[in-house]
Amino acid sequence: MKKQLYCVLVSCVVLMVSACQHIPREEYIDFLKVSDTTYLGVSQLTDSLEVPWDLQFNPTTKSIFFTEIKGQISELNLATNKRTIIYTVPHVFQKRSMGLLGLALHPDFDKKPYLYVCYTIKDGEHYFSELAKLRYVEGKIVESKVLLKIGGALGHNGSRLLFDKERLLYWATGDAHSNTNSQDSTNLNGKVLRMTDEGLIPSDNPISNSYVYAWGFRNIQGMAMTSKGHLMTSEHGDAIEDEINLVKPLHNYGWKEIEGFHDTDAEKEIARHSSRTEPIKAWTPVIAPAAISYYGSQAIPEWSNSLLLTTLKNQSFRVLKLDAEQQVIADEKVYFKNHYGRIRAVTIDDTGNIYIATSNRDWNPQNGFPQKGDDRILKLAVIDFVPKEFLMAYEPENKKISDGKVLYQSYCASCHKNDGKGVRNSFPPLIQTPTITDAHKLVTVLLKGLKGKNVINGEEYDEEMPAFGFLSDADVATIATYIRTHFGNNLGSIDSAMVKDIRMTTHK
Ligand code: HEC
Repeated sequence: MKKQLYCVLVSCVVLMVSACQHIPREEYIDFLKVSDTTYLGVSQLTDSLEVPWDLQFNPTTKSIFFTEIKGQISELNLATNKRTIIYTVPHVFQKRSMGLLGLALHPDFDKKPYLYVCYTIKDGEHYFSELAKLRYVEGKIVESKVLLKIGGALGHNGSRLLFDKERLLYWATGDAHSNTNSQDSTNLNGKVLRMTDEGLIPSDNPISNSYVYAWGFRNIQGMAMTSKGHLMTSEHGDAIEDEINLVKPLHNYGWKEIEGFHDTDAEKEIARHSSRTEPIKAWTPVIAPAAISYYGSQAIPEWSNSLLLTTLKNQSFRVLKLDAEQQVIADEKVYFKNHYGRIRAVTIDDTGNIYIATSNRDWNPQNGFPQKGDDRILKLAVIDFVPKEFLMAYEPENKKISDGKVLYQSYCASCHKNDGKGVRNSFPPLIQTPTITDAHKLVTVLLKGLKGKNVINGEEYDEEMPAFGFLSDADVATIATYIRTHFGNNLGSIDSAMVKDIRMTTHK
């Protein structure tokens, strides 16, 4: 009897505690509208940090571990928001983008309580990047071991660390400002390296006895693994072409001979003679992409199966929606533009809450920053009420022709094929048909689909063309323009105002 009463009391206390964790409305600093049915509250968990470079949620401790560029590693308790500095990495050399950078936690943290960090050191006149494994015991780092040391430079030191499901560790390195490192398969800079949790070379690495897993990178600033096990990186281009790459073993991503898509004659020529892999997304003008993280949770259903991307130059948080195979970026949404300043790090907890960190006290602050409280860690969580005022998504600023290619490949190529030639008697070619030449007709087919027997260029087609009315006016215009300017078509472009008009008239 007594025992039962005790249990009731305990569960009351537990209920009260969890009720307390609900943030009262006035503590949100902003609200964000994701859709008519999903709103997020933004709250600030901690402030006055100095360039938090990497955030990693730890499901074992229910806390976030994070690095700051000067060398500190902290643990942020998510129940209390208390931040504790657990270690200062010795010998970190900090200047500009050099310092304590990437962080990974061992996926079996309860049995193997290790943190992995990479950082810059200076040895005489030379810079290096080191990768170290740190042992965590009861809120402290008690042991440290350097696993690997590679060349470094005043910039382009890469940084991200990531474990896959097999417990292999990936280290994304930068080209260390060299003209030759990235294309030299024996050099460890400008690469994605792959190793065991002890820092050894796995026996199944693509080049035997080498850490190199993939090559031809400039300066990787984000790395994530999708639920289907696709390795993704974000990378800084030079003056143009920031990239997202889908990283496959031994693939060469082209730097520094090819930048972004293979779109210049010189680049096409190189790609013809040696195997080079294009990014799955590129941005010109550049946005300076930083951390990426894979969002698989259903907590924010609109964002499920996306890469969450933080950006520096563009000062935004982006949601890059993936297709079902997780190989194509099918949509992009831009949030918080210029609102919190530079955003460098992101992590996701086990219930689908998102945490981001600003980077306004780094060497390159943008107009109006740093502000009081910078740098800070912010939390984005679903709320169960509709706020009076809220922020919303921005349209991505540039829809390049390359995006038309991406859209075409994700929505159309499965039937009409990459070259637009289609499949005879099943899927018509998208080349010089009356529908393609008639802009109005083309947009109508895209919005409404097409059914019944049709003779197209002398061949009969009787399968169904699905409707793509769910795409935005801008996306329909981009795809239509892509078709009319590729595959040997030499027709004018179509703008979203025209799509909007046709959508309105065909709806009546
Ligand atoms: C599931 C397969 C499938 C997909 C995906 C698909 N189509 Fe089609 N499409 C067809 C079929 C089948 C037809 C012919 C329909 C008929 O007349 O019977 C067609 C017809 C068309 C036509 C008319 C061709 C002409 O000359 O009259 C256009 C234009 C077209 N598709 C463009 C697209 C675009 C752009 C996309 C991507 C947004 C796309 N389709 C996606 C199957 C598909």
